[in-house]
Amino acid sequence: MTSRYESLMDVVRSRMTNRAFAPAEIPRAHVEMILGAARHAPSGANAQPWHFIVVTDEGAKAAIGQDDIQKQVKPLLSGPDELSIIDVMCFGPPLKPSYKRGKKWLDQIVSWDRFDPANAMTDAQINEWVKTTRHKVMYRDESRVD
Ligand SMILES: Cc1cc2nc3c(=O)[nH]c(=O)nc-3n(C[C@H](O)[C@H](O)[C@H](O)COP(=O)(O)O)c2cc1C
Repeated sequence: MTSRYESLMDVVRSRMTNRAFAPAEIPRAHVEMILGAARHAPSGANAQPWHFIVVTDEGAKAAIGQDDIQKQVKPLLSGPDELSIIDVMCFGPPLKPSYKRGKKWLDQIVSWDRFDPANAMTDAQINEWVKTTRHKVMYRDESRVD
C-alpha cells in the first residue's frame, strides 16, 4: 500500500501550473491517456455530464485565449447553444522550466475532530493578508518559503 501511495504522491507532488507551452506535436495516444483518466471522474448519480473537445488546430487554439469564451470560441468548436464550455485545459511541454510553489504544512490547514481556532483568521485579518502578504507567497518557489 505504501508504495502505491508513494507512486501517487510522486505524481501529485510534481504537478505544477504552467502558463506557457513550447510548440510541440502532442501524440494523439497521449491525449487519449489523459482522457482515459478523466472519464473515471466522479459525478452526481454517475450521470457523467461532460464532453471533451480536443483542439489541435493552431488557429482555434489561438482564439481560445479570448475573454468571452462562450461567445467567441463555442461557435468555432461547433458547440450547441444549450451546452456551455466550462473549462479549458492546456497540455504540452513547458516553455520555461517549471518550479514547485510553496505549500502550507498540514498543521496550518488541518484540525482533528473539531475546528481548532488557532489558525482561524477574521475577515479583517484575511483582508490584511491579501493586502500585505499574498503577493509575496503567491508564486514563490518552495525552497524560499519560510
Ligand atoms: C480555482 C483556481 C483559479 C486559478 N486562477 C488562475 C488565474 O486566473 N490565473 C493564473 O495565472 N493562475 C490561476 N490559477 C493557478 C494558481 O495560480 C496556481 O495553482 C497556484 O499558484 C499554485 O501553483 P501550482 O499549481 O504550481 O501548485 C488558478 C488555480 C485555481 C485552482
